[in-house]
Amino acid sequence: MARYLVTSALPYANGPLHVGHLAGAYLPADIFVRSRRLNGDDVIYICGTDEHGVPITIRAEAENVSPREIVERYHIDIKESFDNFSIVFDNFSGTARPNHAKLSQEFFLNLLKNDHIMVKEEDQFYDEQSDRFLPDRYVEGTCPKCQDDKARGDQCDKCGALLTPFELIKPRSALSGSKPIIKSAKHWYLKLQNFEKDLVTWLEAKKDWKDNVTKFMLGWIRTDGLHERAITRNINWGIPVPLDDPEADGKVLYVWFDAPIGYISSTIEWAERVGKPELWKDYWQNPETRLIHFIGKDNIPFHAVIWPSLLMGQNSNWILPYDIPANEYLNLEGEKISTSQNWAVWANEAAKDFPADTLRYAIAANAPESKDADFTWTFFQSRNNDELANIYGNLVNRTMTFVHKEGGIVPEANYTERDQKHFKALSDKLQELFSAFENYKVREACKLTMDLAREGNRYFDEMKPWELRKTDPERLKTVLNVCLNTLRILAFGSYCIIPNTSEKLWKMLGQESKLSAERVGSVVDNMLAINQKLNPSEILFRKIEDSEIQAQIDKLNKQSGRKKMEGQEKLESKPEITIEDFQKLDLRVAEVLAVDVPEKAKRLYRLKIKIGDEERQIMSSIKEYYNPDELVGKKIVIVYNLKPATLAGELSEGMLLAASTSDKSILFLVDPGDIPSGARVN
Ligand code: 2FM
Ligand code: ZN
Repeated sequence: MARYLVTSALPYANGPLHVGHLAGAYLPADIFVRSRRLNGDDVIYICGTDEHGVPITIRAEAENVSPREIVERYHIDIKESFDNFSIVFDNFSGTARPNHAKLSQEFFLNLLKNDHIMVKEEDQFYDEQSDRFLPDRYVEGTCPKCQDDKARGDQCDKCGALLTPFELIKPRSALSGSKPIIKSAKHWYLKLQNFEKDLVTWLEAKKDWKDNVTKFMLGWIRTDGLHERAITRNINWGIPVPLDDPEADGKVLYVWFDAPIGYISSTIEWAERVGKPELWKDYWQNPETRLIHFIGKDNIPFHAVIWPSLLMGQNSNWILPYDIPANEYLNLEGEKISTSQNWAVWANEAAKDFPADTLRYAIAANAPESKDADFTWTFFQSRNNDELANIYGNLVNRTMTFVHKEGGIVPEANYTERDQKHFKALSDKLQELFSAFENYKVREACKLTMDLAREGNRYFDEMKPWELRKTDPERLKTVLNVCLNTLRILAFGSYCIIPNTSEKLWKMLGQESKLSAERVGSVVDNMLAINQKLNPSEILFRKIEDSEIQAQIDKLNKQSGRKKMEGQEKLESKPEITIEDFQKLDLRVAEVLAVDVPEKAKRLYRLKIKIGDEERQIMSSIKEYYNPDELVGKKIVIVYNLKPATLAGELSEGMLLAASTSDKSILFLVDPGDIPSGARVN
């Protein structure tokens, strides 16, 4: 029996989860955890939300609420997604909890004591318009490695490179869009170079890790070497730097410093919750424990270099990661998933329309294990209809229906060589399946699971029980016994991927115990008891209609504004105007500074805008089309000389220009590009 400590990347509590998140760090981990438990191993599965850092403050500023309000809201929303997808953690914590701050500060102080931290007075970008220092994520620009123009000052999402703000070509402030100036500030730095040698030795020994982790990291270390990296930031949300130094005032630990420590604080929270407060040490400080971090590829440098350095630098008995199965990205309908463009299948919404197991199976069957994968709704439909319903569901249905007609019990059996051969085939498949699970190959595991059902259908077809009923009632009993035991093995084998269905099937077979308490190995020997009474059967997978799939595609197009403009109603022309009429309009470029929702008019946005040096407020009904964070920093065009009006008790000084379809299903703000605010539009 091995001991495992499995974690999934702590998602930022700044927005809802989509299927891409689930496919990367969560569903593969949940499947792995379930499989290790069926294997009899001791496993705890730990997660929580990542509640600090700029991802949270940017969202809070955009919505004009406190960071705490944001993290509380999304902690609940994210946890709900995991529940909806039957992703079950032993503990799900959050990094804004007090025990986590204390532990992170201890980590910092130990590193300082062990001479792994240095202080540097360094130049930093500063946004004069917003009057503040810009932590790395608040600086955007062009990636020096791949030229993508949406790189951030910490990392480029396109190529995965870790960056510093000064490496960005054409840097701009994410707050105001302006070009930042340079000012000097004091910060604390982790001396990553102290760990370079040990990290290389450690990574080189990880021969069976995925290439996307070891090759990528060793390549990075060998090319650029490791250098000190700032681990403090100037923001007002996070864990205070635990030093009695006026320069530390107003500074917090960098989110990537404290986030992975969240794996430990969540485990400590778990140990306390189960009434064994010291138990976490058996996992984190026992060299026998296999620490496995499931992550998406953008998290690789943090888990394979920075996090191990934090652990090594404690000079204590923390274990290091045993494996870091990093997954690639899941695209959607051929395009990159984009939160800001709403090109995403949101987890909680999908779970309202389809059962968790169907979603789990379709995502796992197409998991981005070794390269990016593409989720399409037609693929989803065909996994359900062609495999879950037609192969798996069909086997269960035809077997159960037949057996219920024959008395609804497990008949006695006298197995022939053919039957033994069938069990042997199932047993071999089961072994292959568990080896796929162990090697994080969930795509292959889906195929092998379906192979178990295919094997069952083949046996059923070959034995023709409908004929045996007339010709050989004795043999029929054995055949039905074999078929029922096949279902038992199928329930067991499919449990990690489609746990809810498996449990249902288990109950249909008259089992009292929980399937999750079973162990692999005994399953082919451990036959159903003779005369065991079966429970009524039910249809496990309904067919998914074309219309349901079309509805999902339409929804995606609509929410992202990509709907084709077909069917746009022909508009009636307004009366002709002269150039003088037109020139009465004073149209200007404005920039959105802040967005909130007024108390008395929940359907409107109150936009604070800037036109050159002037600030104004306008009320607008674009709430259903844009999230606040999509608007802040955006340039728009307004009618500048429109007579001010009062809307829902609020002053509105101008009107913004937008294009929309006649049914108002899609609306886009007129975009003046990079023209500075205040400029006139003619
Ligand atoms: O990329 C992310 O979503 C991060 N919040 C992952 C953190 S993983 C860990 F270290 F906590
Ligand atoms: Zn890049």
